[in-house]
Amino acid sequence: MSAAFIRRVPIVAGNWKMHYGPSDAHDFATAILGGLTSIPMVERVLCPPAVSLTAVHAVIAGSGVRLGAQNMYFEPRGAYTGEIAPTMLQGLCDYVILGHSERRGYFGETDELVNRKTLAAFAYGLTPIVCVGERLEDRDANLTERVITEQVRGSLANLPPERVAELVVAYEPIWAIGTGRAATAQDAADVVAIIRALLAELYGADAAQAVRVQYGGSVTAANIAEFAALPDIDGALVGGASLKPEFIEIVRRTAEAKGLG
Ligand code: PGA
Repeated sequence: MSAAFIRRVPIVAGNWKMHYGPSDAHDFATAILGGLTSIPMVERVLCPPAVSLTAVHAVIAGSGVRLGAQNMYFEPRGAYTGEIAPTMLQGLCDYVILGHSERRGYFGETDELVNRKTLAAFAYGLTPIVCVGERLEDRDANLTERVITEQVRGSLANLPPERVAELVVAYEPIWAIGTGRAATAQDAADVVAIIRALLAELYGADAAQAVRVQYGGSVTAANIAEFAALPDIDGALVGGASLKPEFIEIVRRTAEAKGLG
């Protein structure tokens, strides 16, 4: 099939970050499940904290709603206090968020580490959602393209070519995360085009067309349609607004903007 005919299924993921322990996660997932299952045209992913994964798994099992972890280590097992192995997520989660800017910024994760984790995700049957994004200083200094290029080349090196199409990339400008100041849709589309061009260079045009690229950063029900209306943006990685029933509305408006509503 030629690249022009690849139709990507939109994907909206809720990154709950450090919110909702097992009992609250169970209750919130239960509260939003009905709304989410009514929008099957969009892939819906809930990413609770690690201790709440099994609670949410029990709620969403068999519903079509997917489960994702927020992080993991790359080793399959061993003496790595506090870490979670891909083998532990295998069979429980479908997705794992890797290289989120909070991991990079607060916990010192480098492109090299994110790359090892990404390779491990593929090796253990998990689909990585790899995050990239520039700081405000970078954008102001016209360094966005350089920073994104470095992150994509570094984090997404040496992927198994036959698996690249499964990859999800989240473009999340750091200055837009949790600030209420989303990027403009045009800014996001410009960077997503850079990401796809790099993927094409690394893995070929067909793979680059198949990869789903999300926008993330202060996404709400009020602004999602602007992003989702762009053909190159395949959904969103949602933080704050994914902690509320508003998340259902974000998924619904994604479906509508993609002509799937
Ligand atoms: P936000 O977070 O939607 O709260 O800005 C997005 C993210 O960090 O993934």
